[in-house]
Amino acid sequence: MGIYYQQENRIFTLHTTHTTYQMKVDAFGFLLHMYYGGKISGNMDYLLTYYDRGFSGNPFDVGADRTYSLDVLPQEYPVMGMGDYRNSALIIRNGDESECCDLRYKSHRIYKGKYGLKGLPAVYASEDEAQTLEILLEDSVSGVQVKLLYGVLEKEDIITRSAEISNCGTAGIVVEKAASACLDFVTGDYDLLSFWGRHVMERNLQRREIAHGSFGIGSRRGTSSHQYNPAVILAGKNTTEEHGNCYGLVFVYSGNFMCEAEKDQFEQTRVLMGLHSDLFHYSLEPGETLTVPETILGYTDKGLGQLSILFHRCIMEHICRGGYRDLPRPVILNSWEAAYFDFDGETICGLAKDAAALGIDMVVMDDGWFGKREDDNSGLGDWQVNQRKLGCTLKELTEKVNGFGVKFGIWIEPEMVSEDSSLYREHPDWALQTPGRKPVRGRNQLVLDFTRKDVRDAVFKAICGVLDQGNIEYIKWDMNRSISDVYSMQDKQGKVAYDYVLGVYDFLEKLIKRYPDMLIEGCSGGGGRFDAGMLYYTPQIWCSDNTDALDRVLIQYGTSFLYPVAAVGAHVSAVPNHQTGRSVSLHTRGVTAMAGAFGYELDPGELTDEERDEIRRQIRQYKKHEELIRKGDYFRLSDPFQDTYAAWQFTSKDKDRVLLNVVMLEVHGNMPVTYVKLRGLQGDMVYEDVDTGKRYYGSALMEAGMPMPMEPGEYLAWQVELTAKAKSHPV
Ligand code: GLA
Repeated sequence: MGIYYQQENRIFTLHTTHTTYQMKVDAFGFLLHMYYGGKISGNMDYLLTYYDRGFSGNPFDVGADRTYSLDVLPQEYPVMGMGDYRNSALIIRNGDESECCDLRYKSHRIYKGKYGLKGLPAVYASEDEAQTLEILLEDSVSGVQVKLLYGVLEKEDIITRSAEISNCGTAGIVVEKAASACLDFVTGDYDLLSFWGRHVMERNLQRREIAHGSFGIGSRRGTSSHQYNPAVILAGKNTTEEHGNCYGLVFVYSGNFMCEAEKDQFEQTRVLMGLHSDLFHYSLEPGETLTVPETILGYTDKGLGQLSILFHRCIMEHICRGGYRDLPRPVILNSWEAAYFDFDGETICGLAKDAAALGIDMVVMDDGWFGKREDDNSGLGDWQVNQRKLGCTLKELTEKVNGFGVKFGIWIEPEMVSEDSSLYREHPDWALQTPGRKPVRGRNQLVLDFTRKDVRDAVFKAICGVLDQGNIEYIKWDMNRSISDVYSMQDKQGKVAYDYVLGVYDFLEKLIKRYPDMLIEGCSGGGGRFDAGMLYYTPQIWCSDNTDALDRVLIQYGTSFLYPVAAVGAHVSAVPNHQTGRSVSLHTRGVTAMAGAFGYELDPGELTDEERDEIRRQIRQYKKHEELIRKGDYFRLSDPFQDTYAAWQFTSKDKDRVLLNVVMLEVHGNMPVTYVKLRGLQGDMVYEDVDTGKRYYGSALMEAGMPMPMEPGEYLAWQVELTAKAKSHPV
């Protein structure tokens, strides 16, 4: 049992194995937050203090008591208009244009299992794994009701939060801002770790002090974006990989989001995660409800490494779905960097033949197989196979590819339309556009109005028409621009950005229902929509369009803080690298790509025999360790933004098998030796290096580290496989 309610003092306590979350309904019916952190016993209402604070107003019904102010008290769901001047979780514009909402406790419900969200992705769990708490709050004047949802996954140390905002009044209202999680801390100094980036350089880590004032990260791009990822960490000042307290907040949503962090006048910290308030004015007629996407919360006092393990497990086992959730992912050879738009059926068969010879499982035919699509200026929306270009039907092509013993996958970009396409010529009104204005183009394409069911249905039908033609076992779902012209001919303005994302989810849900065995890989110019919302439908996402091994080390480092390695699409590509012009050895490219769902993005026909042999060895090595990589605990052993090397480690749950990976990022004359300290081993076991037979004490590897060889050369990489052999004897 994880959720407790004490009737006498109206305290809710949410326990997981190592954490506690506590809140209370006070004498006035306000829901006050009291505590979230390491597991505790007892009631934390002693933390709530009451003093007369100048310029902090007092709700009317506290009477003459000037010590009671929502400007100071920690709250579960702070609302604009009640005397709290910090960032609000909710702003409502009422029918009379007033912006106030006085939420008081009305009722609650506790039940087995984890709540679900209509039309939105959310953590799922069985009845035995989770419990739900629903707290209903109400503004008696407007009739607005807010149902706060809490999911408690006790064993996982995970608490989820969401909110349903309902207009139970008689006049229309507009939701101007809505968050799903608010964390208030009455004391403490914190840093916010966030992940910023750009196309081909996603998820760089930024650690920033939460000082006085407020700052935020977010996206107004219609997708979660390359620029800021909807996942952050709140960490104590001294928290490191191995030590210290930290909280993860992961938004399960793929559209505009906003995370705000603030330190107030009394040194109290507030962090909010929710929908972005720009481009958002969500009108609710009487009887209507808005669901705010879920935020996953996790806490540990054991440092960032442990927080990552906690979130990796939660996302792998309670967000990702479908047959491939627990299956080895096929090693893919993707045609994009091999041929770009310049291919025909023979080219794809050539790739398949090479794939078979190298041990690659699947060939993916990327962009360019449909409509009039010789470059990225036309054809999107015309989901008809270009048989003239392929020189055969899709069925024939898939049969030929399968004939080599290789699976076949295909690229699609369902949300888009080119102006130069039959679809656009027939239905120009299907694109999002602002009346009377010329649209903003991105990659010379427009965005289809996925808020509209008729548009989604037509695209769905066309795409199924393709997928049904042959044995297609994989889809790469791409989305190659940021959204502008957020205006729909049919949807209510102010709702479009949100309804668009729900439209995408609706499409994806139908797709996975119809093709339950299909592996879908998400993509948005690489990692522009790398979020937990997409992972609910696509268990892996192309991590970045940047396949340069050195840059990938950095991108994958940032990604690893909150997302599991199995979700990271990572391929070995040709050198010089097409994005950076850098040349890195095939071995180093392989080691880097093995920190993900592994594959290739090159033309094997251009490789030497030695390179082909090396690729065969690489694939054998990957397949040997595939399960360890996908299911094992992942440890970051260095900070590649600071250190001269990148190092990471996969460890089996029983800690008996270890794969250490090291990539040198710098080379200098007469270099100091690099010692890499391992983590999460059994200190009292002896581990053997499988290749050399050399033995090490677990405790020694963790305390003193392992010296890496000194060899001349740029960007060298090593993989060391260790197995636990025997209990060590103290010396
Ligand atoms: C995006 C993807 C690439 C490739 C191209 C095709 O940029 O991220 O991997 O699929 O589109 O146009």
